[in-house]
Amino acid sequence: MKIGTIELEHPLALAPMEDVTDIPFRRICKERGADLVYTEFTNCEALARNVKRSLEKIRIEEDERPVGIQLYGSNGDSLERAAAIAEEYAPDFIDINCGCWVKKIANRGDGAGLLRDLKKFESVVQSVMRGTSLPVTVKTRLGWDEDSIVILDVARMLEANGVQALTVHCRTRKQGYSGEADWSWLPRIKEVSGIPLFANGDIATPEDVKAVLDLGCDGAMIGRGALQNPWIFEQAKHYLATGEHLAPASMEERIELCIRHLKDYVAIRDGGRGVFAFRKFYIHYLRGMPGSTKVRVSLMEFTEIPPIEERLRAYLSDLPELIEV
Ligand SMILES: Cc1cc2nc3c(=O)[nH]c(=O)nc-3n(C[C@H](O)[C@H](O)[C@H](O)COP(=O)(O)O)c2cc1C
Repeated sequence: MKIGTIELEHPLALAPMEDVTDIPFRRICKERGADLVYTEFTNCEALARNVKRSLEKIRIEEDERPVGIQLYGSNGDSLERAAAIAEEYAPDFIDINCGCWVKKIANRGDGAGLLRDLKKFESVVQSVMRGTSLPVTVKTRLGWDEDSIVILDVARMLEANGVQALTVHCRTRKQGYSGEADWSWLPRIKEVSGIPLFANGDIATPEDVKAVLDLGCDGAMIGRGALQNPWIFEQAKHYLATGEHLAPASMEERIELCIRHLKDYVAIRDGGRGVFAFRKFYIHYLRGMPGSTKVRVSLMEFTEIPPIEERLRAYLSDLPELIEV
């Protein structure tokens, strides 16, 4: 697959996730085999007005390339201006979010709301392209609901406009996250268009990655599966190359990575706020470990890093006993 000058063989991408895929988390996944990463989505109106938080969201580092900045919105002028601002931050490409299902975004015609108006969808793509000379990619869903699946028309339209890759979360807007992603649409999309295609939705194991590549997809994009297991990228690559499974990350590796993530996460935020906001990650790092609920509850008391690190290390040294019980 080619996006601009970047050539990638069946890339595994880390899905953009708001409040998750900041530089520290993108780096963690990159180090564990993610081939492509994206910023969290950024509102074009806020970016066009140079809102500080939005400018922070689109900051990227050299060591995470290839990286895309993701934008959303539907106002042509703001999209064009936001794309030009994003280009100044020198990503490898710009991705347009046309799949966000959240009511306040989709109901005003942004994100997945564009799936109800393909003319508007096309004008959004063209506005972004006017603002940048970088490659443009699109991430979307199958359609608004099961009675209006438009993904085949969308794929044709995007290809005709020169969009360089399409990611499809194989659910409708109405589904949100309910039901299962319907991967059966993927080969149909490949049949009607030559646009490089990333499968997305419910890809969480090496077998899932192989399944979507076997359906003819050019790449796979992993969201929640990476949040729960940032090692998924190297695990999937190993499986694709050998048919064998790598051992899952050990409890020690998980706890060490949690501590490192916490430190990196807080380093780019204001101390206390960062420690507080990081709480959402503990459940993922400690999932399935003996006695971890109690540990998580105790971590909520702390507002500084050192006691958290101490508590996690104490838990790590108690683990052999807990496992024996
Ligand atoms: C916490 C969270 C935040 C998300 N934020 C974004 C976002 O900023 N941009 C986007 O395109 N999709 C976003 N998504 C959707 C994911 O990129 C992905 O399409 C979806 O989770 C399905 O893939 P998965 O089954 O691998 O998680 C988000 C998902 C989650 C769970």
